Amino acid sequence: MITGLHHVALAVRDIERTAAFYRDTFGLPGIEASETLVDQGVRAAFIPLSNARIELLQPLRDDTPVGRFLERHGEGLHHICLETDDILAELRRIASTGVRLVDETPRHGLAGLIGFLHPQSTGGVLIELVQVTGEGGAMVVEHDGRILRVLIAKPGLDGHDRGAKVGARALRGAGMEGIYTGIRQTPEMIVEAALQEDVDAVGLSVLSGAHMELCPRILQLMREKGVDDVPVFLGGIIPDEDVAPLKAAGITEVFGPGTTTGAIIDYVRSLPPRD
Ligand code: CO
Repeated sequence: MITGLHHVALAVRDIERTAAFYRDTFGLPGIEASETLVDQGVRAAFIPLSNARIELLQPLRDDTPVGRFLERHGEGLHHICLETDDILAELRRIASTGVRLVDETPRHGLAGLIGFLHPQSTGGVLIELVQVTGEGGAMVVEHDGRILRVLIAKPGLDGHDRGAKVGARALRGAGMEGIYTGIRQTPEMIVEAALQEDVDAVGLSVLSGAHMELCPRILQLMREKGVDDVPVFLGGIIPDEDVAPLKAAGITEVFGPGTTTGAIIDYVRSLPPRD
């Protein structure tokens, strides 16, 4: 069942500039949730209204869906989003009527589980459905006057990223920007992302056993790029005897498999502020 309008989304070149326009022109509040999805090449944020939201989408690069949209159409309306209480049932029901879907199964978005319908089947309007789950749509809480940005990265070849995704989502739920790189990242890609995203911390997730090769390499690249003031912590399956050498190499904290997301959030909050 569709329960209402969740948001209207705009493709913009600069989220802060657009948010300032809506504040100055309409007296609307600032953005309330913000997250960067590196794998989708977009940063997203909500301006809250009493009964819905305005979503702002800013591409990270030109060669992304929103980047290409901006190139073709300029800034403007991008999609509308309808809220449902059961996204899986709703996507199945809609598909059975012959409407083409972009997402056959729901995926995680800024406000919860989302799925897109194809504009060719909807009169030219890109339509998103959302089931608000509480797992996304973090309220932004400023920390020492600003929002902490944390890169969660999965170096190496293992493809198990449930823990990394849960960690990134938990950080967002705690009002930080949790930026997740996706699986199978090289040390070079991770350090480049840390540099470009100007993050306050980097969290590495390694389950492959290759932490003793990957972590020193990443720390070395960070020194070379001049971002070695950014703390790098590690989560995964790490034998006890590896913890001391990893810390000696510059890893600031090591979290084992039983770590709660709350412990990671507390740790990131406890980091000294960067200037
Ligand atoms: Co949307």
